[in-house]
Amino acid sequence: MGQRVLVTGGCGFIGSNFVRLVLAERPGWEVANLDKLTYAGRLENLQDVAGDPRYRFVKGDICDPEAVREAMAGCTMAVNFAAETHVDRSLLGATHFLDTDIKGVLVLLEEARRIGLGRFVQISTDEVYGSIADGSFTEESLLNPRNPYAASKAGGDRLAYAYWATYEVPVIITRASNNYGPFQYPEKLVPLFVTNALRDLPLPLYGDGRNVRDWLHVHDHCRAVLFALENGQAGEVYNIAGGNERENIEITRTILRELGKPETLIRPVADRVGHDRRYSLDASKLRALGWQPRVAFPGGLIETVQWYAEHEWWWQPVKDHDGEFRKYYEQQYGARLA
Ligand code: NAD
Ligand code: TYD
Repeated sequence: MGQRVLVTGGCGFIGSNFVRLVLAERPGWEVANLDKLTYAGRLENLQDVAGDPRYRFVKGDICDPEAVREAMAGCTMAVNFAAETHVDRSLLGATHFLDTDIKGVLVLLEEARRIGLGRFVQISTDEVYGSIADGSFTEESLLNPRNPYAASKAGGDRLAYAYWATYEVPVIITRASNNYGPFQYPEKLVPLFVTNALRDLPLPLYGDGRNVRDWLHVHDHCRAVLFALENGQAGEVYNIAGGNERENIEITRTILRELGKPETLIRPVADRVGHDRRYSLDASKLRALGWQPRVAFPGGLIETVQWYAEHEWWWQPVKDHDGEFRKYYEQQYGARLA
């Protein structure tokens, strides 16, 4: 059946990959993309589909009820990717995180409730569970967010659940592990290290470099979100994981090896405060419904490294000409790298 889906944050990393997937794989669907175009949102991420008659872009803030009303009008479903997403930035100041990741979710849920939206997917994160030394978190595990980004995402996650429990808004919550792939803003580990290495700049590795993340290719994540949107049950939470737990030092070495760059570029720097040691998810609930990741590791990482090497036009303007990025980089890494 044809659907009209509202995607929020569709100009960011995962949202843009999701919009492209839906347009390619659901020919009868239309997509409205509501995005504020913060520092992380870029029209370039969707320039290849901008002319598709099934695609509509609305510039606006999910905290603004008028913008949300306009964008959600006529939609049958919504997927909320819009968020402030970078842990390090949340440590420099958390106000925007609380606004978008909690209040913005409230505005979206209120409108979904008002118009009787058919389905609402809240994109949450593994970070809401906090760190785990052994084993993996299931959807039943307690939430224990340990940084301001994670805490604000946990707020949005539980608010979405509350709108199901209280008003029967048909909400589904997904919690994914660390994504990697094309179009990721070059502040996150993989694109930052690849683009720095390409220019022979130091790679600032926090602490002992042995924190563990479970790496999920963005295409696998997007297929999982589409799968949950179509097959998930309202009121349920689904973990989404790649099953590729690696220490940061191993990711760093793979990047350098692939680019033929020396390990002397690795620069151990002062740790992130409150740095979660290990994230690990049990994704058997969604797998039991029929989803599974397709992208192999480290093959997917190697392809991703090549993508950044071949798409300098995409990241070079951010790193060289975006004053906001340069200011952030100096604030985050200036003293660490001095
Ligand atoms: P991103 O930072 O690349 O993109 C965020 C997008 O949201 C941008 O286009 C930005 O302009 C938009 N946005 C921000 N505030 C907005 C607002 N108030 N109104 C409208 N648009 C706004 O983020 P991402 O990495 O693509 O993450 C997308 C979602 O997935 C987030 O909810 C994030 O918490 C979640 N998530 C990310 C990861 C990961 O590894 N990147 C893992 C699990 C979950
Ligand atoms: P990041 O990409 O910020 O994602 P998250 O904090 O959501 O997991 O970081 C991934 C890992 O890489 C995390 O353990 C922190 C580490 N890291 C560094 O060591 N140096 C850096 O410059 C960055 C950005 C991250």
